[in-house]
Amino acid sequence: MTDTQTLEATTSDDQATEVEAIEEPKSFTVTLNVRRYDPEADDEPKWVDYDVEMYPTERILDALHRIKWEQDSTLAFRRSCAHGVCGSDAMRINGRNRLACKALIKDFDISKPIYVEAIKGLPLEKDLIVNMEPFFDSFREIQPFLQATGKPEKERHQTIAQRERFDDTTKCILCAACTTSCPVFWTDGQYFGPAAIVNAHRFIFDSRDEASQVRLDILNDKEGVWRCRTTFNCTDACPRGIEVTKAIAEVKAAMTSGRVS
Ligand code: SF4
Ligand code: FES
Repeated sequence: MTDTQTLEATTSDDQATEVEAIEEPKSFTVTLNVRRYDPEADDEPKWVDYDVEMYPTERILDALHRIKWEQDSTLAFRRSCAHGVCGSDAMRINGRNRLACKALIKDFDISKPIYVEAIKGLPLEKDLIVNMEPFFDSFREIQPFLQATGKPEKERHQTIAQRERFDDTTKCILCAACTTSCPVFWTDGQYFGPAAIVNAHRFIFDSRDEASQVRLDILNDKEGVWRCRTTFNCTDACPRGIEVTKAIAEVKAAMTSGRVS
């Protein structure tokens, strides 16, 4: 097949007429430099090069699949939905946290290797897989569920404005891209981290919830919101476009003012 393929349509006289020329996508070789670590064989992680044939509209996740399926089946990484919903494939790509399933090859300079490694600040288990338990411990600690007493006869109604107050933070998919891009979290991993605060924000500003003060007290801890240094790494890293730093600032303001409306 040639690079340019001609589409033909048949007229009422059965004559083929050229109607459109479609450029066929070209594949090219991309080098992925992956930071590998096998706890049973390696003392330290090591960088390994892989050349992969890719199309521009494919993603880093497709490249990792190709390596695993065609070159080295021992490569370990997490993924599930492959469409930016489950949050399981956050990784550090060329030094920036992203979801591999949303990182398009055409957005990288393929004249250089693309560096892929595990997210930072959580214990490395194997290759691109980290232990997410410390991250989920912080999430559980802020009580991420609606707490309301009484038994209303109908739904608990909200105005549009009341719903909009926490709309942004409902979008979180718990990928950890924000928390593991935060220099404060890297220092010792004790800081609650942006994701836990985002999920606290989602309930603190929900007019139906009655435990806002409980969550504010939890985050008023020495490892809570006051450790945030407003570097904006978290906002830049969030694949859902959540204004993470703004949410943290709103939680700080609620603590000092005592107002959550
Ligand atoms: S706030 Fe964004 S980056 Fe952080 S865990 Fe949620 S979706 Fe991921
Ligand atoms: S695989 Fe589910 S978000 Fe990427």
